[in-house]
Amino acid sequence: MEKIKIIMDVDVGIDDAIAMCLALGNEKFEVLGFTTTFGNRRCEVTTQNTLKILELVGRTDIPVAPGAVRPLVKEYNPPEFSIVHGYDGLGDMADPLPQPTITTCGKSAVQFMADTLRESDEPVTLVPVGPMTNVATLIMTHPELMPKIKEVVLMGGSTIKGNASPVAEANIIQDPEAAYILFKSGLKIKMAGLDATWDGYIAFDELEEFGKANWLSEKIYSMCGIYAEHYRERMKNPGLAMHDSLTLAWLVNPELVQAEDYYVTVDINGRYTYGMTVTDVDNVMKYKPNATVAMGVDRVPFINMIKEAIANLAAQKK
Ligand code: BDR
Ligand code: CA
Repeated sequence: MEKIKIIMDVDVGIDDAIAMCLALGNEKFEVLGFTTTFGNRRCEVTTQNTLKILELVGRTDIPVAPGAVRPLVKEYNPPEFSIVHGYDGLGDMADPLPQPTITTCGKSAVQFMADTLRESDEPVTLVPVGPMTNVATLIMTHPELMPKIKEVVLMGGSTIKGNASPVAEANIIQDPEAAYILFKSGLKIKMAGLDATWDGYIAFDELEEFGKANWLSEKIYSMCGIYAEHYRERMKNPGLAMHDSLTLAWLVNPELVQAEDYYVTVDINGRYTYGMTVTDVDNVMKYKPNATVAMGVDRVPFINMIKEAIANLAAQKK
């Protein structure tokens, strides 16, 4: 079977941690490495969290390269607490994951991406699921490697309303200038944004079942307490949105996602709309579409794909 070669750029994060498990537990992927960024927490924390998850699932062979510690242009106000992900970014579990014994690979995120692209025989897919700072820096510093990027499948944005401002999604508003560079780059882009990821939730009763399935799902269940509370109490959602995993599910099974080609840009000047992914749904501007935008997802097969990958990963390490 031909595998999909990916580099995931993560800001781990509960849904990032689950997406890591999907990537590692689905045989269609060959994960070349994880690069990290600030986002849900400071980069030092998201990097440690990435290492902790790899150690948890016994995949310490995968390189981790630390990346952006702040956005390209805007002021960085590091979150001391993430209302969704907790103080430690992994849900402040009663029995937290131990400090990792493994370390990062000795390269920065951009250096790792550049070297991996250069050395790969085939083009590689980039999967950024945090702020786009590392990818934008790669674009600006290594134009010669753009043909080695097969596509960029990102979690971020929305065609209508946001979750971090009335109109902006969290990953984009944390570094709008970086996302602007990415959407202007000419790279092939798939945008898994809130239009579809809100619908890609694991329902509360399904979560209870999932929590009993195997040792890894038990661990993930205990990670999800604070995340579940957020969606139940504050958002009045029917379940927990698996935002970051949608990128990967879309790659494995494009049929799961209803998508449209649109021209998308990012507002980097607006007072109220800073960080909005402005999407020309009616092609008013007559620009050629630059992104395929996820507009909906078949929820049940999507959630099943996540559960199966986690079960596979659990079976690989008892
Ligand atoms: C995105 O923001 C982060 O909190 C999540 O990990 C996800 O990448 C959703 O807006
Ligand atoms: Ca994320």
